Amino acid sequence: MIDEGVKALFNPRSIAVIGASRHPGKIGYTILRNILDYGYKGKVYPVNPKADEILGLKAYKSVLDIPDEVDMAIIVVPEKIVLKVAEEAGRKEVKVLVVITSGFSEVGNVEAEEKLVEIARKYNMRILGPNIFGIAYTPLNLNATFGPNELKPGPIAFISQSGALGIALMGWTIMEEIGVSAIVSMGNMADIDVVDVSEYLAEDPNTKVITIYLEGLKPGTGRRFVEEMKKITRKKPVIVIKAGRSKRGAAAAASHTGSLAGSDQVYSAAFKQAGVLRALTTEEMFDWARVFASQPLPEGEETIIITNGGGVGVLATDAAEENGVKLLDPSPELKEAFKKTMPWFGSPKNPVDLTGQAVVENYVEALKIAFESPEIHNIIVLYCQTAILDPRELAPAIIKVVREYNNKKPIVVGMVGGIETYEGMKILKKNNIPAYPSPEKAVVALSALIKYKRYLEKQSKI
Ligand code: COA
Repeated sequence: MIDEGVKALFNPRSIAVIGASRHPGKIGYTILRNILDYGYKGKVYPVNPKADEILGLKAYKSVLDIPDEVDMAIIVVPEKIVLKVAEEAGRKEVKVLVVITSGFSEVGNVEAEEKLVEIARKYNMRILGPNIFGIAYTPLNLNATFGPNELKPGPIAFISQSGALGIALMGWTIMEEIGVSAIVSMGNMADIDVVDVSEYLAEDPNTKVITIYLEGLKPGTGRRFVEEMKKITRKKPVIVIKAGRSKRGAAAAASHTGSLAGSDQVYSAAFKQAGVLRALTTEEMFDWARVFASQPLPEGEETIIITNGGGVGVLATDAAEENGVKLLDPSPELKEAFKKTMPWFGSPKNPVDLTGQAVVENYVEALKIAFESPEIHNIIVLYCQTAILDPRELAPAIIKVVREYNNKKPIVVGMVGGIETYEGMKILKKNNIPAYPSPEKAVVALSALIKYKRYLEKQSKI
């Protein structure tokens, strides 16, 4: 059963911003402005005893003065006032507190954090934070963060235990055409933790894949993490990047959010047990998430590589073997069919090498064969930039074929070259086709999808 307070985090009917500031540049101003500019449709109430009006909205001296129910209260006042305004929010029957303020357990101020939790328990409120940058939930047009405000809606949820990195990655998702459903800053996890948020997102129809930047779990919560995540990963893929792998990194993580970094092997074992996919870099996490967000799960393991360059084909072949991606040995009939898509000196084996002479039509014909052949379950398209084939023309052609076949098989694209390939990949990504700047990245991303499919099959037999 998902708690009312956690539900209110993603579906508040009204929001009070306690510490909404009159001054541009302050966090309390930016959060209020982001909420309004991103188009949140519920009611918004700035609270500030020194102001009558902020950003065109009537301001209230206290949350208690608001003549309406308040589901969510965002707290952006200095630490020494937090307990007082939290108490008032409790009396107002607020469901969830989003505490942006720093200066709690992360700097050793454990007592204030415990008092905050006590107040929340007394009034049956939940707390996100403290020490966070906020929460965004794009299906509700809600951006209650002080991060960038041009978030692209989509099916990837991102939960971050790091603040600054989380904000930075918000900006990065915009640049990379990564569509997000939710971005949740976890901070000190005094109450609501990664598992609570993941449980909600597992049931959320707007989220297809959950990504987590994790520094460490709270002491005593490891077993719950494994047990609950096991249930969640049967519903949706969860990709975690766990920072603090090294000894020094673990120490840095402990002083950052006050969490127990623990031994890396213990985390690895826990992730494995829970069916959580572990990425090693943030880039890798989003590389994989992009495939889960846009591609169907494969019907089987047999994979074909279609390329215009022998070299990238070989690199992809190595990466496939290293990452458990099974390359198909095409039947003589299939080889015959591929042969018709290339010059006489091409290769119809796997990788299917259309040669450097390939033009759009060669790719289109080969792709159509790949979609139609029952021997093939997964498709990797590779492209090396040549002067005779512009990637910005190849990209729309690939999109057209994928649509013609209803994207019935997973497809990933790897493009190597200059600025034009970057633009070609942007076109593909905008149209929900995962595209990567190297053959290896394309293969590894596909391998995550295949591994998850295997995991689901194994679970269904248990
Ligand atoms: N109720 C509501 N608002 C109140 C208040 C009260 N009881 N008392 C004061 N305020 C108002 C202030 O008047 C001010 O508004 P103004 O600018 O219009 O005067 C506003 O609340 C903010 O107070 P201020 O004292 O200016 O604080 P600040 O903006 O300098 O800092 C925090 C507040 C929360 C941003 C700061 O303490 C903090 O924690 N910063 C770190 C946040 C962070 O990095 N979080 C983690 C990110 S990952």
